[in-house]
Amino acid sequence: MNYDIKDVQLAKKGKLRIEWANQNMPVLNLIQQRFAKEKPLKNTKIACCLHVTTETANLAVTLKKGGAEVFVCASNPLSTQDDVAASLVKDFKIPVFAIKGEDKKTYYRHLQAVLSKKPQITMDDGADLVSTVHSQQSTVNSLPKTENRKLRAENQEPRTIASKLPWGGTEETTTGVIRLRAMEKKGVLKYPVIAVNDAQTKHFFDNRYGTGQSTIDGILRATNILLAGSNFVVCGYGWCGRGVAMRAKGMGAKVIICEIDPLKALEAAMDGFSVLPLKEASPIGDIFVTVTGDINVLSEGHFKLMKDNSIIANAGHFNAEIDIPALKRISVSKKRMRDFVEQYKLKNGRRINLLGEGRLINLAAAEGHPATVMDMSFANQALSGEYIAKNYKNLQNRVYSVPEKIDKKIAELKLKAMGIEIDSLTKEQKKYLDSWEMGT
Ligand code: NAI
Repeated sequence: MNYDIKDVQLAKKGKLRIEWANQNMPVLNLIQQRFAKEKPLKNTKIACCLHVTTETANLAVTLKKGGAEVFVCASNPLSTQDDVAASLVKDFKIPVFAIKGEDKKTYYRHLQAVLSKKPQITMDDGADLVSTVHSQQSTVNSLPKTENRKLRAENQEPRTIASKLPWGGTEETTTGVIRLRAMEKKGVLKYPVIAVNDAQTKHFFDNRYGTGQSTIDGILRATNILLAGSNFVVCGYGWCGRGVAMRAKGMGAKVIICEIDPLKALEAAMDGFSVLPLKEASPIGDIFVTVTGDINVLSEGHFKLMKDNSIIANAGHFNAEIDIPALKRISVSKKRMRDFVEQYKLKNGRRINLLGEGRLINLAAAEGHPATVMDMSFANQALSGEYIAKNYKNLQNRVYSVPEKIDKKIAELKLKAMGIEIDSLTKEQKKYLDSWEMGT
């Protein structure tokens, strides 16, 4: 079996951790049991470009039980758990191409490795597989016909990869969905993709409670600071930002929200947070977290205003939210203080501590989202994969929502697994809610 991981000897620890996560993934387990019987993914190759965590391992195993041939690479150079990668290879015979801390070149080589298997389904977290497939496809299209034919005849990569498009794909995160919608709008999307992120059983829980808890976890593991009494600045009050702010407040931090959307800013104010422009928050904050999906949110002007020993971290998908080149430019020295903490000394004499190289801190310094929320996210992934395998012939090159039926079913199953019962409408109530004639 072809794979590229750090060390297969790490498998024992990885296997136990995968089992540990599995205990909190009851919905995915139910799907796994059905998949094992029905094999809905038989003869399907699936390329997963996801954070290589214990939860992702359980998803990969579920897809394999469903009959798929699964290949895994990382969706971020710093989010791979090497023991999990080892166990997937050794214990589950699933090829993995991912090493924690891999450089950019290796990261893309690993993407190419899974794409070279010619998957029928791509599962993305950030749309890197989809965009790689598309850039290769445009290389093919821009070649003269004769050359293209020659290359195909010679079975050369990467043109041959691109010559056959996948049936469809799924997308895990907000940033990926934004990229895909931009492709759809420009009319360049060449195969259908299901926006798993937009399922309610995904972003209501994973983005809010998952990112909320694990971002705090990452910051604490990296620094061991006390949050109580600190000034904690959150840039972006979307699904993730709400979660981070809520959990920081719960630990006694004084939370300041910076936003560009008046609605979100208003919501933050009425949720009881201080709302300030980032320039005003910069000299006040002790800890700054970006979760916007935007670029250069924290930049030179802000760094220069920050207090000595400020901590800056990112939990958004790409490491573009903090302008690290600008930080380097205005610094005289850099010192590695602890794992995942680089201390920059500015020309003004103050120190700024950058966590996890500006990459998503919850995965760089901690273990990512807890399995309990990933259970729902990955139930959506597994069922969306099955949906593509069954329906791809009828899908257009568009970004699709997860079918509402799937979303609702996952919520029902999760409640059941948590031992929570709810009420149902009486006939009279149903009639009342369906009618417009009845007033008082
Ligand atoms: P969202 O769209 O719900 O929220 C983003 C918020 O940032 C919006 O309210 C927007 O107005 C605000 N914003 C944009 N530019 C800004 C700026 N310059 N300054 C201040 N606020 C700004 O998106 P969501 O779901 O909260 O995701 C945010 C990012 O986190 C995305 O990149 C997403 O892919 C990523 N993500 C990371 C996870 C992790 O494990 N660390 C998990 C899930 C999502």
